[in-house]
Amino acid sequence: MNKNKRDNWGSRLGMIMAVAGSAVGLGNFLRFPGQVAQNGGGAFMIPYFVSLLFLGIPLMWIEWTLGRYGGGFEHGTAPGIFHSVWQKNRFIKYFGVIGIFGPLVIFIYYTYIESWALGYSFLSMIGKCSQAVDQEQMKALLVDYQGLNNNGLFNGSALSILFFVVTFALNIFVISHGIKGGIERLCKIAMPIPFVCGVIMLIRVLTLGAPDSSRPSWNVFNGLGYMWNPDFSALKNPKVWLAAAGQIFFTLSVGIGVILTYASYLSKGDDVVLSGLSAVSTNEFAEVILGGSIIIPAAFVFFGPTDIANIAQGGLFNLGFVTMPLVLNHIPFSEAFGFMWFFLLFLAGVTSSVSLAQPAIAFLEDEFDISRKKAVKIFAFVTFFLCIPGVLFLSKGVVDELDFWGGTFCLVLFATVEAILFGWVFGIDKAWEEIHHGADLRIPRIYKFIIKYVTPTFLLTILCWWFFKEWLPLILMKGVAAENRIYILITRIILLVLFLSIAILVRVAWKKKAAVKRG
Ligand code: ALA
Repeated sequence: MNKNKRDNWGSRLGMIMAVAGSAVGLGNFLRFPGQVAQNGGGAFMIPYFVSLLFLGIPLMWIEWTLGRYGGGFEHGTAPGIFHSVWQKNRFIKYFGVIGIFGPLVIFIYYTYIESWALGYSFLSMIGKCSQAVDQEQMKALLVDYQGLNNNGLFNGSALSILFFVVTFALNIFVISHGIKGGIERLCKIAMPIPFVCGVIMLIRVLTLGAPDSSRPSWNVFNGLGYMWNPDFSALKNPKVWLAAAGQIFFTLSVGIGVILTYASYLSKGDDVVLSGLSAVSTNEFAEVILGGSIIIPAAFVFFGPTDIANIAQGGLFNLGFVTMPLVLNHIPFSEAFGFMWFFLLFLAGVTSSVSLAQPAIAFLEDEFDISRKKAVKIFAFVTFFLCIPGVLFLSKGVVDELDFWGGTFCLVLFATVEAILFGWVFGIDKAWEEIHHGADLRIPRIYKFIIKYVTPTFLLTILCWWFFKEWLPLILMKGVAAENRIYILITRIILLVLFLSIAILVRVAWKKKAAVKRG
């Protein structure tokens, strides 16, 4: 029994807002358009929707249910939750390490990108964004802000570092106030606003026509076609499938470990079926209708089909930053709107990044029995240092490398473990009953079959297929510029050390608990 009382949610609405707040973030407005552009436009959408139906939705229910179940044993993170499900297995808790490692890795680059949104809201307010009138100037502004044009060893402009520190401090401030007093309170205020702003932007983008009369084919309709015209040949590429599955997990915050932790603060009778479904629908509206239909057509009309992909190849999160100011320049009061758009993007980011921090903090609280205050201090100290490589070596590809391991690979791997554990070890009949405890809605029975057979098979197929085709080029860093290889190698070593450190902490925590039990 923990001596610290576990936190809980204040209300059902607050909890749903917090989960939706975790889901809706930079993934919807920046990463999704970047993925669409990097993976050939319409080529991405079929794997994306297939992954949503067979991976995202089932995993959402799996994580909510496992989280609530584990919370009953006072475990809020994957090592403890997995152990509660499969008590006889001594090793299963180590698979749970991915559920702390993954969100931590995402957190360390996510907060940096989030701080760009804050920086851009400032640049919009002082009129800097509206001074850049074409794509070249917009790209130059971003390069300037990111500090990529100084030829020294380090990147990062003074402004980008300042905004990063402010963003990091704000995250820590919110987290330190706990689940109810910090995260839930923030999400209740910050969550609805991006939707209102998103709808305004969507209307403006859809009425842009073809702003450059010398290129009439660069128009909004062709922009929508770029995203929606399917390309069936891409279905043969495992990289596109891995990217689509990774994006579904990233955007829904499932397969990360975050929903496990959030759900662990529920009580047994709380509904998870409808709550999970509301979170998925809110998120998909924000991603496909707002994120995709704003940024992709807008980028298409200003940059054309070839340059969209080039910008996204230059950095997964860049597209939104070079595109939106150009759209905003076509709106009266562009400074005010620009400030509002980027500030809201920033808020959407904060409601997600605080959730990414929560598994690591909950792990320290639950498994080491330390106070939240102390856990937050340790977390802040460690993650601040871990953020530094992403900030200083952005141009060397460090952020995209972190994003691949933390934001794609680990999610698919973790989801595979969860799906097998839930459908096969916990047992699908018991799992089905557990999902429906306190449920306001019954899940169609076909999902019983999907959860047991389709989801794990689908995940294992993607993983194995990707592994056989891609692991060697990946390990050998094929496609990475020779001068960047050392940075990528160091990033991988840091990640490995981080992973092993968490595994050691899990071992220590379990040994301590066993010693206490023996008295
Ligand atoms: N789910 C969060 C996002 O999409 C991490 O940004």
